[in-house]
Amino acid sequence: MHRVLVTRELPSGGLAPLEIDGVEIVGPRFGDVALTPQEMIAEAPNVDAIVCLLTDRIDEAVLRSGAAGRLKIIANVAVGYDNIDWNTAHSLGIVVSNTPGVLDETTADTAVLLMLAASRLASDAEADLRGGRWPAWGINQYLGMDVYGATLGIVGYGRIGRAVARRATGFDMNVLHHSRTPSGEPGYIADLDELCARSDIISLHTPGGAATRHLIDARRLALMKPTAVLVNTARGPVVDEAALAEALHAGHLFAAGIDVYEHEPQVHERLLSAPRAVLLPHIGSGSLATRRNMALAATGAVAAVLRGETPTNLIAR
Ligand code: GLV
Repeated sequence: MHRVLVTRELPSGGLAPLEIDGVEIVGPRFGDVALTPQEMIAEAPNVDAIVCLLTDRIDEAVLRSGAAGRLKIIANVAVGYDNIDWNTAHSLGIVVSNTPGVLDETTADTAVLLMLAASRLASDAEADLRGGRWPAWGINQYLGMDVYGATLGIVGYGRIGRAVARRATGFDMNVLHHSRTPSGEPGYIADLDELCARSDIISLHTPGGAATRHLIDARRLALMKPTAVLVNTARGPVVDEAALAEALHAGHLFAAGIDVYEHEPQVHERLLSAPRAVLLPHIGSGSLATRRNMALAATGAVAAVLRGETPTNLIAR
């Protein structure tokens, strides 16, 4: 009998590939509450697979414990995998999968949502309306920046960045992009500083992890136009959150649309109080269909490994 630990409740239907003879699903019995590190370490050697969320930390201790038992695969229900010590996993012969492809369009929609909402000051305006602070229509109220026709700088030109670029053409935007390896495509800007300085809207689509930590720091924020709008649907640590908050307070940046945070679920208190910030609680891939497809991608990878096959969505060694 194969045993699979599923750390949290998954979207309805997402367990289907594992609801088969010969597989015992361990886990949703924990309810929708994160396992403690001790619980994770204790369970790891007794299961063939762990299906986890980006909020689960799969560190060396969990992996070593699993490797001493029967653990073969960590399947992250997310495209990002900065919550997993995948180097250690690989060195222990445990494979790691993620969910590339299925969430690109939904996450790109979220980036556009944030571009529009931040550029047009939607959160501040709505908060005033709800708070009874809207006396009457005013010709000088809530004046934002146009998205239509703006220069968009996409940082990270993978599947999600490209999905954002496709949408931007419908807004007649001038699209620039930056990535570590030259794309060879029109609009490529090798120097991130230049992209920051030239763009009206900067949208981040890089992976998380050490290589991109504080890629957007106080210095790069200062390079942006005072009329610029920063959008982050990638990973919180890509932006120095404290520096972003100060830039908004000081008016050095027009607005920000943020879905991800450095220390989720905590949000820097200066960012919470910053003007012209639209702050969402990490809902980038949050549509019913996409979240189910992410679960299916993860559980499908586990099912493949249990059959002795190699899933297509493994993170490369
Ligand atoms: C969401 O943030 C993901 O990485 O899938």
